[in-house]
Amino acid sequence: MKLAVNIDHIATLRNARLAEEPDPVTAAHLAELAGASGIVCHLREDRRHIKDRDLQLLRETIKTKLDLEMAMTHEMKEIAIKTKPDLVTLVPEKREELTTEGGLDVMGFQQELRGFISDLKEAGIPTSLFIEPTTQAITVSAELGADFVELHTGKYSLLTKETEIEAELERLQNAAHIAKTFNLRVVAGHGLNYQNTPAIKSIKEIEEVSIGHALIARAALFGMEKAVKDMLKLLN
Ligand code: PXP
Repeated sequence: MKLAVNIDHIATLRNARLAEEPDPVTAAHLAELAGASGIVCHLREDRRHIKDRDLQLLRETIKTKLDLEMAMTHEMKEIAIKTKPDLVTLVPEKREELTTEGGLDVMGFQQELRGFISDLKEAGIPTSLFIEPTTQAITVSAELGADFVELHTGKYSLLTKETEIEAELERLQNAAHIAKTFNLRVVAGHGLNYQNTPAIKSIKEIEEVSIGHALIARAALFGMEKAVKDMLKLLN
């Protein structure tokens, strides 16, 4: 199974000090060199983490696949068409949320989504829809012309009871299977970490997972020892 790395939180850390470091573009290059199959960044309306400059540099330098996560707004469509990422993942976006909270309401916004997907397609950009793993959401996504669906694993990642985890895995498995029957490509993401990701491997239809928070958190902690030793070397 392939891994797409979301580098938003590197930008969050940089922006916390209004500084230049750590640079999400450098993080993306290191992730690529380590074997990531793609880089994901979410350009939010409020630019709270990834900024336009980051997207531009990522587009110029990413060699694997650049997946631009964005909301379905006129501004974002213009940016996508100008920047030409390898994939656009459409997500719902609320200003107050800490992270993307739910799947897209594909049923409620069919007309808008159809036009949006078609405009991106015309510009040569495939679209992925971030949706709940339900038959209805998948059927509508296929009908709207999406190329990919990203199955939302947020609910799965929050469960603690074994029986509930099994049931949610089955729901994801069924959703992935149905998506394949519609010739949709299937990826998954949100809330995946070192504990709950291995079970996702059993769903063969899912070709890639998209992971951010858990990876960046581990990178920060595993890098601590070297960072301290490097500074001590300078001091002594
Ligand atoms: N996929 C989508 C569509 C997302 O919005 C996010 C969060 O930005 C992720 C995957 C990654 O989620 P996490 O940071 O919890 O790994």
